[in-house]
Amino acid sequence: MADQWASSVDLHVDLRQGTPPAAALADAVRAAVRSGRLAIGAPLPSTRALAADLGVARGTVTSVYSRLAAEGYLTISQGAPTKVAEFSCPPGQARSAPEPEPYTFGARWNFMPGLPDVAAFPRQHWIAATKSVVTNLPASDLGFPAPGGHHVLREALAGYLGRARGVIADPDRIVVCAGFAHGLAVLAGVLRSRGIDSLAVENPSMPAFHDVVRAAGLPMTPVAVDESGLRVSEVDSPAVMITAAHQFPLGMPLDARRRMKLAGRDDTVIIEDDYDGEFRYDGRQIGAVQPLAPERIVYAGTTSKTLTPALRLGWLVLPRWLVEPMREALHAGGRAAGVLDQLVLAEMITSGRYDQHVRRCRSAYRRRRDRVLSAVADLPFTPQGIPAGLHLLLELPGGVSEVDCQAALRKRSVVAGALGTHWFTDGPHPQGVVVGFGAPAQHAFTPGLNALVSALRSIAE
Ligand SMILES: Cc1ncc(COP(=O)(O)O)c(C=O)c1O
Repeated sequence: MADQWASSVDLHVDLRQGTPPAAALADAVRAAVRSGRLAIGAPLPSTRALAADLGVARGTVTSVYSRLAAEGYLTISQGAPTKVAEFSCPPGQARSAPEPEPYTFGARWNFMPGLPDVAAFPRQHWIAATKSVVTNLPASDLGFPAPGGHHVLREALAGYLGRARGVIADPDRIVVCAGFAHGLAVLAGVLRSRGIDSLAVENPSMPAFHDVVRAAGLPMTPVAVDESGLRVSEVDSPAVMITAAHQFPLGMPLDARRRMKLAGRDDTVIIEDDYDGEFRYDGRQIGAVQPLAPERIVYAGTTSKTLTPALRLGWLVLPRWLVEPMREALHAGGRAAGVLDQLVLAEMITSGRYDQHVRRCRSAYRRRRDRVLSAVADLPFTPQGIPAGLHLLLELPGGVSEVDCQAALRKRSVVAGALGTHWFTDGPHPQGVVVGFGAPAQHAFTPGLNALVSALRSIAE
């Protein structure tokens, strides 16, 4: 029964201070119904699940559901999920076309890799930190932002990255950017202008970043990855981009010997994309490669996995020779991360709230990872990359194609990654589905997992 209640719909509840939670929730549900984002007949989350997601009393959700039923938006029936009512739209008023959520392609159950559980965003702590920052902000901070990022955030990050990831991170080496994709775009241009004529990329790797590098005019050369990570001896470019802690999307770490070998190459600039280094579940501490060669490694981090990709906040820890060129390029680009968000993040870090949130998420994601593994245990898929991160790879058994697998998922309204989109080159490659177990909201995880497993079972049989 609990499964029928759950829904992956994010209600976009705005729990601003001053707005009573009941009013905010009621407004959000009305807006979602009117816009068509919640379709007629769609089930709502159970009162228990939604109350837990929003951090409000269960009675608040119950009373809002009753009120909206009275207003004609919802139907409540004993022992069944509360649903969007059939005549919830005033007669004659057309429902505007629902706006599909980016990256989910309208699917109900979202297992796309790359996303954290955004419903777990620490709203109350972010609000409290924002209040404290805005209250105490000197007027001078409301001018144009410094191109390399506010010094208060750079100092907070230096402390955090040193203790959490072992990075050598003097604040003067750090530049703040609007997410890794932005930092990479600027960095690729700077490297190119300094004579770097190609960038080696892991094959497979994140296709969106291939586009970013291509747009910056830097040619790429793919380098194969095996069970020990990138085949370092095959790198034949003056620069290379790696996901050393948790290869994306295959999931293995770069082994110790190859790390040393890569770091020892005096003629190679390394971009270390440490996108989910905070999430490791096997007790092994896999630190950053950057401390092995801080004058040649650009270490990159982001809030996109720890908090939300909506923030667009990331950072690069640079070799000293790249600091000024990068600051200049960030200035010339005219795009800097917003100062208020930077200062709120700094406040979250220095108050310990950021670490607390990461710790809580790490336990929650580990439980989810375990649930996925036990749910697929009797199926002929081979899980890979399981000791870390927010996604795992299920390699398909022989005779099952990615096309069939994606079709079976779509049929059950599940969206998950296709390994095939991550290869840089054509050719026979292992086939798989990349399961982003971080993405669903807590209340949607169990029914979403059931739908995912039922799709996989249908093609395995
Ligand atoms: C491999 C990898 N690196 C980095 C990122 C973070 O990118 P950004 O900070 O631009 O959101 C992601 C996000 O999906 C990713 O999958």
